[in-house]
Amino acid sequence: MMSSSSPSMRGKVVAIVQARMGSTRLPGKSLLPLSGKPAIERLLSRLARAHQVDEIWVATSDKGENDPLVALVEGLGFPVFRGDENDVLSRFAIVAQKSGADAIVRVTGDCPLIDPVVVDSIIQHFRASDADFVSNTLSRSFPDGLDVEVFTVAALNEAASKAQDPFLRQHVTPYIHGRLKDRFPAGDFKREQVIWPQNYGHLRWTLDEAADADFLSRVFSDLPEQCGWLDVIAYCTANPALFFFNRSIPHNQGTTLDLQESRGRYQESNRLFERARQTIPLASQTFSKSYQQWVKGSTPLFLDRGRGGWVWDVDGNRYADFVLGLLPVILGYADPDVNAAMMDQMERGATFSLPTRLEMELAERLVRLIPCAEKVRFGKNGSDATTAAIRLARAKTGRDKVVVGGYHGWHDWYIGSTARRLGVPGVVQDLTENFAFNDADQLEDILKGQPDAFAAVILEPAGTVNPAPGFLERVRALTEQYGVVLIFDEIVTGFRMDLGGAQAVYGVTPDLACVGKAMGNGMPIAAVVGRSDIMDLMEDIFFSGTFGGEAISLAAAIATIDKLESQNVIPRLKTVGANFATMANGIFRDVGMDNYVQVTDIDWWPRLSFSEAPISGGLLTSLMRQEFVANGLLLGASFNLCLAQEDDGFQKHVEQGMRAAMEQVKEHMALPDPRMALKGDMIQPTFSVRK
Ligand SMILES: Cc1ncc(COP(=O)(O)O)c(C=O)c1O
Repeated sequence: MMSSSSPSMRGKVVAIVQARMGSTRLPGKSLLPLSGKPAIERLLSRLARAHQVDEIWVATSDKGENDPLVALVEGLGFPVFRGDENDVLSRFAIVAQKSGADAIVRVTGDCPLIDPVVVDSIIQHFRASDADFVSNTLSRSFPDGLDVEVFTVAALNEAASKAQDPFLRQHVTPYIHGRLKDRFPAGDFKREQVIWPQNYGHLRWTLDEAADADFLSRVFSDLPEQCGWLDVIAYCTANPALFFFNRSIPHNQGTTLDLQESRGRYQESNRLFERARQTIPLASQTFSKSYQQWVKGSTPLFLDRGRGGWVWDVDGNRYADFVLGLLPVILGYADPDVNAAMMDQMERGATFSLPTRLEMELAERLVRLIPCAEKVRFGKNGSDATTAAIRLARAKTGRDKVVVGGYHGWHDWYIGSTARRLGVPGVVQDLTENFAFNDADQLEDILKGQPDAFAAVILEPAGTVNPAPGFLERVRALTEQYGVVLIFDEIVTGFRMDLGGAQAVYGVTPDLACVGKAMGNGMPIAAVVGRSDIMDLMEDIFFSGTFGGEAISLAAAIATIDKLESQNVIPRLKTVGANFATMANGIFRDVGMDNYVQVTDIDWWPRLSFSEAPISGGLLTSLMRQEFVANGLLLGASFNLCLAQEDDGFQKHVEQGMRAAMEQVKEHMALPDPRMALKGDMIQPTFSVRK
């Protein structure tokens, strides 16, 4: 630091670091250890090396929760000012006055990688110009987390006296930099930007989320304490997976969220919906992800990104996500280990002209884990795997007909047996019979009725209800008796109930099985596995596609399965599931709704189950989904689980959101006509395969 008596153009420059303990996303973040040292200490020791700064102050709020922060900072020898929690602008004005500053450097406490050389260069620019405000934040070329704003105390004082809006007082500089002048008053100041010749503005080095802490801890543990920002760039370039640690979190989240209060909560979703419909029928690729599943007009329709258990919609609203992409996400969105494996593979290529070793490395894992698996072939969607299994069964038996028990994908042989069979030829429809889960007598009647007709029985071995004792055993015996191939569709149960699927849990081994969804933590990968003598027919039937063997999904699946195994994820998820079920049932009881809705006690996949209610099931479901999203929960028919949901903050959010939502629903139900409470269209059932 420059001594306060040294001559300098434009007077005394005081850096004010605004910091606090309360952060909804990362409580206590100022004291969070980053590779052993609190974040604020790292920040201050780096900032103290800036030669152009005459004095450093920390401005925090007068809330008691900041006492430990104040004690640490004072212990390090820096002056502290405590003021209003929300009026940060007045904190700055008071420190400016107390310190006798002529110019202020604003640094926020979420920038532990702040670089003294960058700070100096911005102050030098300020000193050499007549600008009122100089920063590197408006035209962003430096990573987010190296933010420096320098401004005159005259500009600060004008802001402090004229800026009235709480937003302006909380964010200190918008009145001075004028970037939001279409929405908020701004002063008439001369502003300049310092821009680095290369654009690193997409990099996120700030500390706002647990993922940021992971990234910063890695940097501080691997690089010298006082490393320069270009050293960090070089380090990240040499370790490209690091870029993915926290990449999906948006910049300047606080500002976005605050601004959004003055806009419609789903404005951008609704706008995009109208646009998407011009080019995309249904405005979605999947029925269950479409507007029909939510109260359209009062719900998010497009997501922007996800991290751990959270997703953000295109309006910036955050949700605890219990849909998880319809079950593939089992670790969490953007899991760092899976991302690292994919990144590594991306560097080598995605789709090749010959097979890669990844295919057998993944196949070997499935053979080791899944009881019926002797051989393996991969597809992209679950439907690829189920259709391949049916073709194999037909090839093996020389028969055409199949019996189905569950949902098995979008292809003709299955969809022909459902209510949504438009476009499926009648001759194909006639080849498929349905039987009810847990009704082995019905299955027996079907097989006995045409003993030589059926090639396969395919069923989900478990799901919304557990198989009755002896049911799966009887299905196994019947299929053997009638020479029918037994296929377990484990697209949902695989890697969720057990690493070996439901067949490992219930000890009944089918001839073939299909897995998909959770196996790649969100990447498109599925597999048909089974007995060698049947699987070897793959060399005679035709199951073959350009993207079979696509390597990034294979790498993701290997990393996912390895993590599921090494971190004992499945039992942990069951604990999470049981806790959510208990929590939700407690809330239903507390608000007096437990007669109408409960959560089933299936710990690996708890589901909402509805009983007779004074309003229709469709209306109750619609009101619940409407209030869930309003309270930050993307929750449909079930609690789809992922490892990141173990997080305490996540669980608290869910409990609070669910309680608030259900209290609201209870009030709606007391209205003379509860339909009055719907703020959009009622949800539409796709076709019911899961009661
Ligand atoms: C049990 C089951 N089988 C098959 C499928 C079809 O999988 P995909 O949608 O990936 O084609 C699904 C999808 O939800 C499923 O739940």
